[in-house]
Amino acid sequence: MIVRADRLQHISSAVFYELEAVKQELTQRGIPVTDLGIGSPDMPPVAHVQQAFSQALSQRGVYGYPTTQGTASFKEAASHFVSARYGVSLDPAHEILTLMGAQDGLAHLALALVNPGDIVLIPDPGYPIYEVSVHLAGGIPYHLPLLAERGYLPDFEAVPHDVLRRSRMMILNYPGNPVTAIPPQDFFTTVIDVARRHEIAVVHDAAYIELVFDGARSPSFLATPGATDVGIELHSLSKTFNFAGPRLAFAAGNRDILSALQTLKSNIDYGVFRAAQAAGETALNGAEETIVAMRQQYASRRDIFISTLAESGWHVDPPAATMFVWAPIPGDRDSRLFARRLLENTGVACVPGIGFGAHGEGFVRFALVHPAGVLQDAARRIGHFFTTMH
Ligand SMILES: Cc1ncc(COP(=O)(O)O)c(C=O)c1O
Repeated sequence: MIVRADRLQHISSAVFYELEAVKQELTQRGIPVTDLGIGSPDMPPVAHVQQAFSQALSQRGVYGYPTTQGTASFKEAASHFVSARYGVSLDPAHEILTLMGAQDGLAHLALALVNPGDIVLIPDPGYPIYEVSVHLAGGIPYHLPLLAERGYLPDFEAVPHDVLRRSRMMILNYPGNPVTAIPPQDFFTTVIDVARRHEIAVVHDAAYIELVFDGARSPSFLATPGATDVGIELHSLSKTFNFAGPRLAFAAGNRDILSALQTLKSNIDYGVFRAAQAAGETALNGAEETIVAMRQQYASRRDIFISTLAESGWHVDPPAATMFVWAPIPGDRDSRLFARRLLENTGVACVPGIGFGAHGEGFVRFALVHPAGVLQDAARRIGHFFTTMH
């Protein structure tokens, strides 16, 4: 008999499995499903990045093992990107580490920094790997509620002193998934102050930092004075450059954190396929144009989705950033039930907010990962379902 390790008890995907089963059932019955669940980009990388990828495939040595830390030229491109966009000057050899997606960093950082029994501060609602990674390392997650009345910022004053004393790491995510808020410019100054006073390593997941709309800018943790003394920032190529499949991201900032992570990872993986790093380098070097186009693309998808929903009477605040719409469920507060019913009645899949933590209850998340016409059609069907609820 196969017995699962106890630690897997903390990895519950029940919320997601349940919807997956309904999706499969609908598909088998020939009912088309519009999946606004997982945030997987539907668009390809821009042409010159695809070209760089295919050219790299015939380069000498590309099929050998890469190295955990990443190629020097990718890290140089990453350092140049951070300097050009956030005005931060970093040493690519020690202050940048290539990752197999931000997920790789997030899954392993707690193992590299946290001892059993240590506390890690995580946002609630938050991206699920934050909590899972802490459990895998034997740590204790402490939830920082992100509430509308506080602009979705954590209230560090409300965290008991003993918790702060026992905290080794905190994970933050702005603009966030699922909460799409942009913090004020001075937010990270407060974070760095708390981190210094309590010796807490800061991990800022900046996966959506470039997906901002209407001229907004989301501040970089890295660009805040003192950031590299206490933490790192994770930059992913998945969303910004439609490069989710090849698995490429980088961590930037504090060299001690990066060196601990590299030590761990050098026993786990051999790094990212060199061809993907070469294409990623091209993407980073030509970032400005891609980013402008990407923002326009998602902003127009957002507008059509939100305005079509509003026609039915479901008014949702347009997100200032990210590829997600975080929608408060009218009336019915049970997000799991709502998502299930929505899927069964309309064929539109979304993610119930409870899957992101207790403070996600009462919300659902829609990912804008289809062309505008498909989103408009989905929003019409959702709207129709919404009106029949009343
Ligand atoms: C907040 C957040 N962080 C990290 C990731 C993972 O990104 P990557 O593809 O770089 O592993 C995601 C993916 O959806 C995300 O939403």
